[in-house]
Amino acid sequence: MKIPETLRRVLVLGSGAREHAILWKLSQHLDLLLFAAPGNGGTATIADSFDLSIPKLSDCEEKWEQYFENLICKCRLEKIDLVIPSTDSLLVRGVVDRLYQAGILAFGPTKMAAFLTEGSKAENYLLMKEFGIPCPKSQICNSRQEAKQIAVTHKLPLVIKMDGIASGKGVVIAYTIKEAFEIIDDFMASKEYGDAGKKLLIQDFLTGQEVSLLAFSDGWNIVPMVPAHDYKKIYNGDRGQNTGGVGCYSPVPWLAKNTFEEMVKITETMIRGLAAKNHPFVGVIYPGFIITKSGHPKVLEFNCRPGDPETQVILPQLENDLLEVIFACLEGKLNLIDVAWKKDFVYVGVVLCSKGYPTSKNLQMGEFIRILGEIEGNTLIFHAGTIKDSNGNLVTNGGRVLMAVGRGKSFKRAKWEAYLAAGQVWFSGIHYRTDIAEDIV
Ligand code: GLY
Repeated sequence: MKIPETLRRVLVLGSGAREHAILWKLSQHLDLLLFAAPGNGGTATIADSFDLSIPKLSDCEEKWEQYFENLICKCRLEKIDLVIPSTDSLLVRGVVDRLYQAGILAFGPTKMAAFLTEGSKAENYLLMKEFGIPCPKSQICNSRQEAKQIAVTHKLPLVIKMDGIASGKGVVIAYTIKEAFEIIDDFMASKEYGDAGKKLLIQDFLTGQEVSLLAFSDGWNIVPMVPAHDYKKIYNGDRGQNTGGVGCYSPVPWLAKNTFEEMVKITETMIRGLAAKNHPFVGVIYPGFIITKSGHPKVLEFNCRPGDPETQVILPQLENDLLEVIFACLEGKLNLIDVAWKKDFVYVGVVLCSKGYPTSKNLQMGEFIRILGEIEGNTLIFHAGTIKDSNGNLVTNGGRVLMAVGRGKSFKRAKWEAYLAAGQVWFSGIHYRTDIAEDIV
């Protein structure tokens, strides 16, 4: 599909390793002029940075309003042709609608489509039930009292989920009633993620392996990406607190073909259902699946944007020009292009974290980052919480600092390459899991 000459100045919003990976992939299209807002120390080498930080979830309406006004103003000033927002909070706050209203093209779901998928777990659960999508049985609770009443009669362990978005930290498994009550109190009182915990879901606990499926959607047609497996716990052996994701591999060698096909069908059912409700979803949809003992997948959650760290191990496998696929989605013509995936390598990624992560309190930042050797050949480093200080030094600026990605003909080799790259990086307080992909090599 021919991309119009008018699509040359592309702005990626956000500052994570996912955004770096998107820009890295776009940078293979040599005619583009790339911009990042705010970007990070890594994106600065391939894109011009705009000093526009995304507000926090808990920030007030005025702050978000100011952000949108500044964004639109900057897009006009810099003659931006296309904006790519991939952060859940931005999408749920309606960045795509705001940009469209200002006559600026954006790739991502509308506020309503984002709300119905990731923005409200309760609304999404109701849709899944309506569309016959397999998912864990859930009860929606509007008050502490209601949640506790449901918890006492529920089989243990049980899953407690915040209704709204909470940077991957709004889901906890309770093994006792005491724990369940503490989590309910904690979630409902927390203001860290705005009103995310005002409503809760109490869900059946399912066991099985998890798989992330990201898919491009033009509102009706979908193109699945190569599946990935994400490690969410902070410590080796899947112990400790939940994180936004601290390691990943792709493809998923143990996933049966027919299970993958079921996952694709389920994803398509959600997209077609949203279209039928007049809320077509254009962008990247990302259902998180659990593969149950029977071999059938169930949806744990739908996300309205590409996953992080999944994107960083998936995009290197995309054969096509990323802009071509995005343009086909925007035109509603995803069925008219062939999207191909490279089959020669598998990928493993390890997230390098700051001392204190995953808690946001006491996070150690501003540490000098040293990259000791050459990162080349079979390895990539994507930046997340990094920034250049006033002297031009690369310093830490967040919990997830960098992601080391390795590729190989086997997972053993890809893992070796990823850890080789990780070993080249040093900053005070660095920590990372040392068992990513260990279970499949
Ligand atoms: N991989 C977890 C997330 O993107 O939410």
